[in-house]
Amino acid sequence: MQKKEQLYEGKAKKVFATDDPNLYIVDYKDDATAFNGQKKGQIAGKGVINNVMSNHMFQLLEQQGVPTHFVEQLSERETVVKKVSIVPLEVIIRNISAGSFAKRYGVEEGIVFKAPTIEFSYKNDDLGDPLINDYHALALGLATEDEINEIKAMAFKVNEVMKDYFDHLNVTLVDFKLEFGKTPDGKIILADEISPDTCRLWDKTTGEKLDKDRFRRDLGGVEEAYQEIMRRVMGK
Ligand code: C5P
Repeated sequence: MQKKEQLYEGKAKKVFATDDPNLYIVDYKDDATAFNGQKKGQIAGKGVINNVMSNHMFQLLEQQGVPTHFVEQLSERETVVKKVSIVPLEVIIRNISAGSFAKRYGVEEGIVFKAPTIEFSYKNDDLGDPLINDYHALALGLATEDEINEIKAMAFKVNEVMKDYFDHLNVTLVDFKLEFGKTPDGKIILADEISPDTCRLWDKTTGEKLDKDRFRRDLGGVEEAYQEIMRRVMGK
């Protein structure tokens, strides 16, 4: 596998072409941003943790029947993934009120929902990733009705697998964001990453936040929280 030219640099990752037209290499950075890029910083070691944890989660999900873009980890920060075109929707599942949900609806954080919720944001930095519903996504041609239904079913399945997995690590899965991609032959698969950048993870006993909210809210102990999640997930 040969790493070729850089195709894209995002806020937390770079994507490179390879000598195989169906495969890309993702390179995870330590850069951290929040509030649509208004807050910027670095979290030492984050790239390694997010790479290793995402790959672990993707493999677990594959075993449970969820197709993902994961192919092979190359190094601490680099992973081979299937080439997809990203569906421009951020898919957010919530089990407990927090973050923008709590703010938007004027409720406290920590309310446990009777059933998980799902919402979509239109992935568009210039517009600040606005909330969008199924009909708007269809009207904008972001996905077909079948694709949206498939994405919803997969997102809820991911929630079931991850909730149970984190529960065994004494971690509450509060909410998370997923992104899906379309392969050249039109299949929808799970893409992007699953990490403390994209999930809210609270210690089940103490309620301590073990995720990017420590960076967003200047709570301190950011690196330690990422390391603690890595330790629980990987046993090291
Ligand atoms: O901010 P909000 O409450 O909407 O975030 C919900 C979940 O989605 C959180 O776990 C957050 O980490 C994740 N998220 C993300 N990327 C975004 C927006 C939210 O990973 N651009």
